Amino acid sequence: MNPALSEQLVFVDATFGRGGHSRALLGQLSPDARLITIDRDLEAVAVARELASADPRVTACHGRFSDISRILADLGLASVHGVILDLGVSSPQLNEPRRGFSFRTDGPLDMRMDQSSELTAAKWLNEAEESEIGAVLKILGEERHARRIAKAIVLARPLTRTRELAEVVSRAQPRRTPGKHDSTRTFQAVRMHINNELEELEQGLSAAFSCLTIAGRLAVISFHSLEDRMVKRFIRKLAQAPSLPRRLPLRSSEIIVPGRKVAGPIRATASETRDNPRARSAMLRVVERAA
Ligand SMILES: C[S@@+](CC[C@H](N)C(=O)[O-])C[C@H]1O[C@@H](n2cnc3c(N)ncnc32)[C@H](O)[C@@H]1O
Repeated sequence: MNPALSEQLVFVDATFGRGGHSRALLGQLSPDARLITIDRDLEAVAVARELASADPRVTACHGRFSDISRILADLGLASVHGVILDLGVSSPQLNEPRRGFSFRTDGPLDMRMDQSSELTAAKWLNEAEESEIGAVLKILGEERHARRIAKAIVLARPLTRTRELAEVVSRAQPRRTPGKHDSTRTFQAVRMHINNELEELEQGLSAAFSCLTIAGRLAVISFHSLEDRMVKRFIRKLAQAPSLPRRLPLRSSEIIVPGRKVAGPIRATASETRDNPRARSAMLRVVERAA
């Protein structure tokens, strides 16, 4: 028997959301397994706590996944068998106007995933330099008209509502892109900036991988090309043989690499996208700890 399977298995759903992945995992895990859930959103954690009170295998934690090592250490866990990161916003965050993530409904310009953090979208947009706003829209939103939009935002300040921001962005666009809402890229960029999403991912990947036991797996679902590129490079680097002097008498099987790519990129199937249109840009990659 694989020794890993005779141990008590411990998994981490580090982006609990509303627990779709957690529930699917619990359906597969034995009665003595453990599932640690993490989310930075207090509303998600409240749902996770309900799940924990109904299922003794679950422990619900509030925090950032970049802090996974400390969260696990506080629970007395040194290593785990699997971690899943499902990046970005959850549907409840997007669909709830008071959270301020969506340009489709009016709400306060908030966009904080963690309601206990200080920086709201309104605070940043009303105080940041025009050049900083432009850079964020260009890099994180890949917005071609970033400078025009940043200028329009600064002229329209103070902004307090999502609808105001959507209107400013719409007016600043030289022409409309058919089938794409004018504000998609701006809202995505502001959200990623407010929640430090790329930095979280960079730190979270290393932190999650280092918590894995040998043969443990890290699965990452990303929705943004910058994120997917980061995940791809991270996995490639782990699976790469170290550069050794040419004449060393070593067989390739003797060269130790830290990680092994298991799967990816995997995209959602047509039927999955039909059931959940937001899955159309999802990309799954999996890496296993080899050493
Ligand atoms: C796409 S949703 C996850 C949906 C989840 N898989 C489900 O089945 O419901 C992403 C979740 O991750 C959380 N999140 C995003 N970045 C995070 C981070 N750095 N640390 C902890 N949670 C984070 C968000 O608050 C959100 O609830």
